Amino acid sequence: MSILVTGGCGFIGSHTVVELLSIGEDIVILDNLSNSKECVLDRIETITGKRPKFYKADLLDIDECEKVFKENDIESVIHFAGFKAVGESVAKPMMYYHNNITGTLNLCALMSKYGAKTIVFSSSATVYGMPKSVPISEDFPLSTTNPYGETKLMIERILSDICVSDKEYGVSVLRYFNPIGAHESGLIGEDPKGIPNNLLPYVSRVAAGIYEHLSVFGDDYDTPDGTGVRDYIHVVDLAKAHLCALDYARKNKGIDYFNVGTGNGYSVLEIVKAYEEASGKPVKYKISPRRPGDIAECYANPEKAYKLLGWKAEKGIEDMCRDLARWQEGNPEGYPDN
Ligand code: NAD
Ligand code: UFG
Repeated sequence: MSILVTGGCGFIGSHTVVELLSIGEDIVILDNLSNSKECVLDRIETITGKRPKFYKADLLDIDECEKVFKENDIESVIHFAGFKAVGESVAKPMMYYHNNITGTLNLCALMSKYGAKTIVFSSSATVYGMPKSVPISEDFPLSTTNPYGETKLMIERILSDICVSDKEYGVSVLRYFNPIGAHESGLIGEDPKGIPNNLLPYVSRVAAGIYEHLSVFGDDYDTPDGTGVRDYIHVVDLAKAHLCALDYARKNKGIDYFNVGTGNGYSVLEIVKAYEEASGKPVKYKISPRRPGDIAECYANPEKAYKLLGWKAEKGIEDMCRDLARWQEGNPEGYPDN
């Protein structure tokens, strides 16, 4: 019996595969490498001593994916595969709807056909839109502000409808807050293509001398120092949440939703300071105008995940920055080309 990990070569997927292998699970990765590289498999093997089975396949090609179900006894699925850049989704909405929605529909059709009816899905705090207050609980109203967020919300609804129609399904939806950091080995981490959109990959490149300075998007928010506040979570803590969520979905039919965050908010300037301390390198920054669509504060109430999944974040901001700095120093150009 194997767990299928779609998008298992990506940032969060690769860390989750490491955790799954380390508890002895059999893993099959399906990834089209559109935003990742095959050499991540070597790194996973170095860390765990095990090499996951890998299929280079696209979720949009249902025949290619059916081969994976035919050749393996897939018992459950952790579904990471998808596009994730907010700005790009505004510029190329059809590409986002097609990849994320059609890809998920193909996956679910195969899951139903082959009787693998347990799934953990990667959603995002973006489904809370402009939250009325913080901390954010799972029962807050849902809305979106861009096509990427819309795909996450649509997939949540698709999975919910599937559960109504088929009582054998068990679905855990994880709404991630801001995943950062890297494996403490320094062997796997986040490797964004081109200029990073997210704060931490940019900060680490400024400290490494790749970029001259960070643009801090706004210092006039209603927050303690005026800069945006987010709930940063160590990617290894996040990876471990998937193991608990999978266990829950195996035992509980129907769908449930969980915030995955620490419950603590840090401002952009607090992050800059924490990274400087962890790396021992300065991070130059300039205050710039607000980025359109950004909210002042976003952090989780993570109580439900603790109560029902028995999961809570264990690593602090120092761990996140230290592990990211180790990854950045060891892999200044990211992963080598395939
Ligand atoms: P990532 O881009 O590193 O990983 C996604 C993987 O999916 C990549 O390896 C990519 O090659 C693969 N993929 C994309 N489309 C595919 C397709 N059609 N068929 C097969 N493989 C495909 O992203 P990540 O940061 O690891 O995020 C994983 C999931 O978590 C995504 O669904 C993302 O939307 C979600 N998420 C991420 C964040 C974040 O900040 N990183 C926050 C919230 C939610
Ligand atoms: N920021 C800067 N400068 C930068 C990049 C970011 O000041 O160069 C600030 C932002 O304004 C924000 C904070 O750093 O205040 C975090 O920004 P990120 O882009 O790292 O993360 P976001 O919270 O904006 O977005 C993340 C994910 C999205 C997801 C969203 C909501 O990247 O996919 O959380 O969950 F939709």
